[in-house]
Amino acid sequence: MRNIIITIDGYSSCGKSTLAKALARHFNYVYIDSGAMYRAITLYFLRNHIDWSTDEAVQEALANVQLEFKFNPERQQSEMHLNGENVEYVIRDLVVAEKVSEVAALKWVREFAVAAQRSMGQQKGIVMDGRDIGTTVFPEAELKLFMTADTAVRVGRRFKELVAKDPSVTLEDVMANLEMRDYIDSHRDISPLRKADDAIVLDNTNISPEEQLEFAIGTAQQLKLNTNC
Ligand code: DC
Repeated sequence: MRNIIITIDGYSSCGKSTLAKALARHFNYVYIDSGAMYRAITLYFLRNHIDWSTDEAVQEALANVQLEFKFNPERQQSEMHLNGENVEYVIRDLVVAEKVSEVAALKWVREFAVAAQRSMGQQKGIVMDGRDIGTTVFPEAELKLFMTADTAVRVGRRFKELVAKDPSVTLEDVMANLEMRDYIDSHRDISPLRKADDAIVLDNTNISPEEQLEFAIGTAQQLKLNTNC
């Protein structure tokens, strides 16, 4: 019996993390939110006024960044800690979202994050979501999903999340941010967002979280993957 690696890539606010968490729960795997790592690095850069246009400044700053996922038993999920501080909530703010794609496109940032992500997958038994997980981080993963959904649906979902925290956020702000991130994420030089050739597409515009979970579990079964479950 062996564990496998499940990767979920796709555009912003497609419901990747909802599916990833549900799959991890179902298979008793560890869920890793790779976007949280890029967000935490961006938060560090913003707070410390790092000029990320120079390689030296980026490398020097990364030497002072320590990222760790810690399990919160109350929420029954892992939370991102940056240099010992729980930043799980603050990294979701629009201020971070506005800069994260720019920071995530940097060579040294990607090397730093990808190395950490690969080491988390050594024991397998993980579900990791992001943009380049099936293409770059774990090209050998046993099950790869690529998620999409209509832009209007994605904007609506993200708006609901953000406005609950900050009532001044507008639908236009959210749409502009989503479109900008999707563009940068899929056009950058290093590991741009794209579907891995062997990934299975899941469009969840019109399906419920329960249906998408069923689809993913069914896919794992069809592929006769041994999920150690
Ligand atoms: O999944 P998310 O929206 O929290 O990700 C935030 C940003 O991080 C996203 O706009 C692009 C970047 N990212 C990336 O470049 N590669 C990943 N594997 C995950 C996220």
